[in-house]
Order: sequence, then structure tokens, then C-alpha cells
Amino acid sequence: MKYVIPGGTGQVGTMLERALRADGHQVVVLTRTPTAPHHVAWDGRTLGAWAEQLDGADAVVNLAGRTVSCRYTPENLRQMMDSRVDSARVVGEAIAAAARPPRVWLQMSTATVYAHRFDAPNDEADGVIGGTEPGVPDYWEYSVRIARNWEAEQERAAVPGTRKVALRAAMVFSPDRGGVFDVLSWLVRLGLGGPVAGGRQYVSWIHERDFVRAVRFLVETEGLTGPVNLAAPNPLPQRELMRALRRANGVPVGLPATRWMAELGAFALRTDTELLLKSRRVVPGRLLDAGFAFDFPHCADAARELVARRRSGRI
Ligand SMILES: NC(=O)c1ccc[n+]([C@@H]2O[C@H](COP(=O)([O-])OP(=O)(O)OC[C@H]3O[C@@H](n4cnc5c(N)ncnc54)[C@H](OP(=O)(O)O)[C@@H]3O)[C@@H](O)[C@H]2O)c1
Repeated sequence: MKYVIPGGTGQVGTMLERALRADGHQVVVLTRTPTAPHHVAWDGRTLGAWAEQLDGADAVVNLAGRTVSCRYTPENLRQMMDSRVDSARVVGEAIAAAARPPRVWLQMSTATVYAHRFDAPNDEADGVIGGTEPGVPDYWEYSVRIARNWEAEQERAAVPGTRKVALRAAMVFSPDRGGVFDVLSWLVRLGLGGPVAGGRQYVSWIHERDFVRAVRFLVETEGLTGPVNLAAPNPLPQRELMRALRRANGVPVGLPATRWMAELGAFALRTDTELLLKSRRVVPGRLLDAGFAFDFPHCADAARELVARRRSGRI
């Protein structure tokens, strides 16, 4: 099959491309700065010659978006919004213009669309969309708005020949350098892998192998449309996640951090505490209902496998 992956040069795209190529598929990546023969230039905003790549392709997986691992300044928030909304819109326009449109368009979204909550997990049917929960910083609402506008852009696209799925993905754990698992493991090895702000907040995650398997499953399963949660079925409180990472890395202790220390750390790492403090308790209701079985339903097993692979250099 021919896959087109707009924004496929980042952490998720790199590991998805690796897996799809291993399956024998053709992969074309749309990027603002092409550096390889299968890279095609686009600007993520306007139609151009790149759109021909979608004509006759089998599947499009749009991952484009400014990284969310940054300080949430007004300018960065604007770029986070615009890069996602604009790229989803223009991918829709390219599909609409194609004589032979792809059968399926998987559009990245995020598990952050759901409310910060502890009491119950969020699935697609009964989950609570965020933005109005009390007691959280105002700007967290903006992240939810980004996700909603991102998904709305795909919903709005008039592409009758193409099945549309929004991937409400949790953090994708892969051993790739600079990915979230790599950064968390690094903090653990520094002795800083303890609970943050008490560590009650839930963390949703998905092992890269399950992410790729879910993408294949969604491409192959006709009839599945709309939002689908891509998260392991067992999200866990942050303090338990860090314990699992410490065990996998053979590190006995991790310093706990207060909210205030987390603010300092996030500032030093040029990131934002929402990524650490928001309770994302997301479960894969639709995937499980459709018969998808996770290879890594539990975080301890996922962490052991990823650490072993990183140590052996087998990425
Ligand atoms: N990583 C995760 O665990 C995770 C979890 C849930 C959702 N997501 C979402 O999944 C997507 C991919 O994640 P990732 O971790 O692979 O992200 P990433 O490493 O930041 O890569 C995203 C890609 O988007 C492109 N991009 C950046 N700014 C852009 C802009 N202004 N206009 C058009 N393209 C732009 C970049 O490609 P070029 O520079 O080559 O153009 C970049 O390689 C992101 O939208 C992210 O929010 C990620």
C-alpha cells in the first residue's frame, strides 16, 4: 500500500514509517524541509504539487503540528493551534481534489481533548470532553480547544470517498531519542523519577508497537469512523508510572517533586507542566469493542521491553 504521512519526520512519524516499511509498504512523508528521496515538500497550509501524492494513495496519516513540548507562551499556543488546524484543512482539500482519493484518512488528535479527572476513565462514548472542569489553570482549556478545532477541521472536510478517523492518542512510548519515554527514562536515571505534585494524576500511554498495530487495524477495519482513543487499557497514576520506570531502569529511588519544583523543572526543560499535571485517564473503548487486543496492556511490561531494547541498541 502507499501511505502518505504529512508531518512524518517527528517521533511518531519516524517509528510509524519504520514499521510500515518493514511491512513492505511505500511511504511518502510530507515535510517543510525534505532531506530524503521519499520526502516531499509542503508548507502545511496551502495546496501545491505535494497534493498529487495523495491521488491514488491508499492511506493518509496526518501527524503535522508544532510540538507541544514547549513553553505555553501566546505565540507558541497560536502556532500549536494554527499548524494543526491549517494542516488538517489543507489535507482535506487535497483529498477532495484527488481523482482517486485515499480510502482512509487517519488524522492525529490527542487524548488531551478529555477532561482532567480522577474519578472514572474517559472512553469515546461516556468520556467527558475537557475545557470546563473547575480548579485547573485557565490555559488548559486552550489545549482542549486546539484538539476540538483539529478534529472539527477533519469532520468538516467534504471527502465522501474517504473514511475519516481521528486518533485521540495518548503519549506514545518508543525508545527513540527525544521521545517522551526517553526523556522520562533520563529523569529516572538522574534520580528525579519520583511522584510529581503527589503523583495522583493519571497518565495514559501506548507502546509504539500497539500504536502501529492500531493504525494498521484502523486502516483495515471498514466501518470505523470518527474519534478513536489510542491508549493502553490501563492508565495509571503518575507515581505508579514512575515506579514502573524506576524498576525497568534498575533505579531504586526517585526524588519526589512538588508542583513548584515541577514548574522550575519544566521551565528548565522549556516545556509546560500541563504535560505532567493534567490527569489523562483515557481508555480505548472503541478499539476493544472492535476486537483489538493490546500486546502491552500494562505499563511495567512496556517499560521493561523498551528499556531492554534501548540498552541493546535495537531500535
Ligand atoms: N508523541 C506523542 O506521544 C503524541 C501523543 C499524542 C499526540 N501526538 C501528536 O501527534 C503528532 C506527531 O507527534 P510527534 O511526537 O511525532 O511530533 P513532532 O516530533 O513534534 O513532529 C511533528 C511534525 O510536525 C511538523 N510540523 C511542526 N510544525 C509544523 C508547522 N508549523 N506546520 C506544518 N508542520 C509542522 C514537523 O515536520 P517538518 O518540520 O518536517 O515539517 C514535525 O516533524 C503531533 O501533532 C502531536 O501533537 C503525539
